[in-house]
Amino acid sequence: MSNFDSVSLVQKKRTNCCTNWGNEMPAEFVRPHVAQIGYRSGELFVEQVPVRAIAEEFGTPFYAYSATAVRERIEMLRDALKPADVRICYAMKANNNLSLLQILAGLGCGMDIVSGGELERALAAGVPAQRIVFSGVGKSKQEIKAAVAAGVGQLNVESTEELELIAKVARNGGKKAPVVLRVNPDVDAATHPKITTGTRHNKFGIPYESALAVYAKASKLSEIDCLGVAVHIGSQITDIQPFRRTFERVAELVGRIRAQGNTIARLDLGGGLGVSYDGGSGIDIATYGANLRETLGDCGCELTIEPGRLVVAEAGILVSEVLYNKAQGGEKFTIVDAGMNDLMRPALYDARHPVWPVAEPAAEAVAEPCHIVGPVCESSDTFGKYEQLPPLASGDLIALGVARAYCAVMASSYNARPLVQEILIEGDRYRLARRRQPVAAMLKLEQAGEWIAP
Ligand code: LLP
Repeated sequence: MSNFDSVSLVQKKRTNCCTNWGNEMPAEFVRPHVAQIGYRSGELFVEQVPVRAIAEEFGTPFYAYSATAVRERIEMLRDALKPADVRICYAMKANNNLSLLQILAGLGCGMDIVSGGELERALAAGVPAQRIVFSGVGKSKQEIKAAVAAGVGQLNVESTEELELIAKVARNGGKKAPVVLRVNPDVDAATHPKITTGTRHNKFGIPYESALAVYAKASKLSEIDCLGVAVHIGSQITDIQPFRRTFERVAELVGRIRAQGNTIARLDLGGGLGVSYDGGSGIDIATYGANLRETLGDCGCELTIEPGRLVVAEAGILVSEVLYNKAQGGEKFTIVDAGMNDLMRPALYDARHPVWPVAEPAAEAVAEPCHIVGPVCESSDTFGKYEQLPPLASGDLIALGVARAYCAVMASSYNARPLVQEILIEGDRYRLARRRQPVAAMLKLEQAGEWIAP
């Protein structure tokens, strides 16, 4: 249960032109919908910490994260999957701050990684190598070597060439590599085209039609321990049907692999579970769990899932200060100090994150449409046009919500803006979990040739 003043998801729409911020809020003002983020006495809090206090101490912009919300997500997911025994390997590409990985390691989660950098992070966070799954369509030889040497629990293979390279690396290292084949089930995930991965037109996986032949080949290689099959059809999936269809395709493949005389002991069902960005509904995890159990619960394989977004997305906000307001072409632009380099999703996928003013809008405030834009020098540096925000003045703080998945991790230093800082909160405690990257540190990595430098 939430301790916050208002927790309703989306408030009723008003029909008149002026909007009040009392009990009846405009439909587009999506209030915080995670129990740990909300308004208390007119101020936005993350757990028991007022967002304004953090802004005063560390300056803006920053990401603020709730630890408790993540713990709860893992618990909810485990409940929804019961009684099936499903291993959760968190897809750390969604957010890889060490503090988060340590929390998840402490909860007994494994990690789904996609690079040598993620391998180092997972190990540094104390995740046992056996609980690490190495996914990714383009693992380099060095990355494969490092993973095999570390003794990761599973490498998900995406092509015959990659399989051969893994076998070679394992042979040279005197090891046997535990492998599952990532199969492309040719299922449309009904999500944004840029994050769809499971159709025959995407680069991912081994084509479903070739899977049996490649599985037979892998099973014969002495340096390979061919354990099973993996699938991942895309991200931000809120419809259960693509998952159902995929699970059915996997169940069919398990039968065919066994009929072929090979053994299969492990299934990795990927991630993709979608969340709500607008107060509507994300994937229903109870239904997801029920479908998984119905289709694959009795197949005699160990089951793994790789959720990323679902575990963290709602457990964080990006806090920014309003710098200026201006009118242009009959529209209002509110310029804030966070930019597309700090939060790329709107520019990349036209994603829309809810805006929550840090001071709770007053009941009598009149909403007005405005574009929330950043300081970066291009027009794609916009968080979107918001129809129903209270007037925001220079110096006001806003939070962009649902901002813990694929946000800080995708940040860049474009425009020589330092990588954004991250704050972890649990109860009334908070910690600078990643400090703002100093520009001086960036400069240290660069040099001009001596024939250029003065
Ligand atoms: N497993 C594999 C093999 C993946 O490629 C991914 C995500 C996941 C698991 C986790 O998916 P999730 O549960 O988080 O949906 N940057 C995009 C999302 C890219 C997802 C990439 N792969 C965004 O901001 O929406």
